[in-house]
Amino acid sequence: MNQTISKKPRVLTNIFLHLHPANVREDAIAFNRTFGLGGMAALLIVIQFLTGIMLRFYYEPFPGLAYDSIVLLQNNVLFGKLIRNIHHWSGVFLVIITFLHLLRTFFTGAYQSPRQVNWIIGLLLFALVIFSNFTGYLLPWDQLAYWAITVSTSILQYIPLVGNSLREFVIAGTEVNADTLLIFYNLHSAVLPILILLLMAYHFWLVRKAGGVIVPNDAEEINIVPSYPNLVYKEGVVALVLIALILVFAVFANAPLLEVANPNYSLNPTKAPWYFAGIQELLMHFHPFFAGFFIPLCAIVLISIVPFLKYREPATGKWFHSEKGKSSSKLSAVFAVILILSLVLLSEYVVNFELLLSALPASISNGLIPLAIFISIIYIYYIFIVRKYKLSRTEAVQAMFVILISSLIILTLIGIFFRGVDMELTFPWNL
Ligand code: HEM
Ligand code: HEM
Repeated sequence: MNQTISKKPRVLTNIFLHLHPANVREDAIAFNRTFGLGGMAALLIVIQFLTGIMLRFYYEPFPGLAYDSIVLLQNNVLFGKLIRNIHHWSGVFLVIITFLHLLRTFFTGAYQSPRQVNWIIGLLLFALVIFSNFTGYLLPWDQLAYWAITVSTSILQYIPLVGNSLREFVIAGTEVNADTLLIFYNLHSAVLPILILLLMAYHFWLVRKAGGVIVPNDAEEINIVPSYPNLVYKEGVVALVLIALILVFAVFANAPLLEVANPNYSLNPTKAPWYFAGIQELLMHFHPFFAGFFIPLCAIVLISIVPFLKYREPATGKWFHSEKGKSSSKLSAVFAVILILSLVLLSEYVVNFELLLSALPASISNGLIPLAIFISIIYIYYIFIVRKYKLSRTEAVQAMFVILISSLIILTLIGIFFRGVDMELTFPWNL
């Protein structure tokens, strides 16, 4: 490379070098290595912190005042509506971008050694991001907020033994009330931001400790270039594009605000916040213990243990690992989409296990049995795909991960766009 490589770390003279090493591998900063997704998530968090602090100047976390404080902020405060819209849309973007970053790290094999712990830290960060969005959702104290939090916290009661007490603990009572609002507000604007900051710092440190982001292990030529300007300029461009996109959304699409919360009159349909729409959709098909607790728990455990399985070969650092990794992932995505769509339609219009096997308790007829059938289908598919492509352990895990993620995406999309009045299946234009 013909650019001058920095000889001494300029940490003291350049703020960006606190985050980056002075020099980096050129292939590590190629755009299609990370798509800048981790950096975008970090920027969105900064935006949330800044706009959140501004919102705090007007927001009042008490049922009689909260809604009015938002109306006042929107109508009487210079740029109040814009700031609220930016906070709203950055929250939505943050979930999507963090999810895409999770997919990026997975499909380049960055969850494997030596980055296993960072995968877990990432998952915790994701949970905090979801929880931040969730606690923020209640704050406007309108009908949407009140009922969305009511239905999603009611899912907690399906957790065996501790479910009811847990729900009462989370919402500080038997229904969403003034204490819930105050607790959610403090979690949202103090506790969660601190946890996010701490974990984010640790996450970044672990990236540095692992020697930067993962790169293909069979690169023919290794070029080293200074981070500044090579990396920092690219990050600047990504940041500007992201900020522009958020501004477009914030200017043209308002954050929702219905009428003030009314505990005596529920919305129809009452939908959970969009990132929980997949679980709410599962509840339409399975016994609540399985839909609200067992299946999500299994999914979380599976995603968490993925880095700790025994892999024979080190991660290649290539997208999808290999050509057969790519083909088997594509096939698995198509398989999952067709399977989930067919099962949703079957369960909605054709088969009702609870009626069909009415002699059995609902947890077996509408829980254990359909789940066993589903797992058998996936197992048969697993045997088929491993044999068809002669998959290695990494590629086989990848194919199963694709099925899990595709199923989650399909269920979430159905929940958001295809459930109308009385939670009946419908088309988005009839919503
Ligand atoms: C990861 C960080 C954060 C996320 C994902 C997030 C997300 C959200 C969401 C989704 C809402 C509801 C907005 C709406 O649609 O009306 C909200 C509201 C709010 N947030 Fe945050 N937030 C974050 C950080 C913060 C911080 C750090 C503060 C303050 C220090 C804050 C203060 C507020 C306030 C006062 C509201 C109520 C105003 C409103 O609802 O428009 N947020 N937040
Ligand atoms: C608030 C959320 C998050 C932020 C701000 C964040 C930020 C970052 C950044 C800036 C990087 C380095 C550059 C890049 O890959 O884009 C990174 C790497 C990494 N992140 Fe995250 N991340 C977050 C969530 C997650 C999640 C949900 C996961 C996965 C479960 C994850 C796993 C990883 C891993 C394994 C690496 C190392 C990647 C590699 O070596 O190639 N992160 N993260």
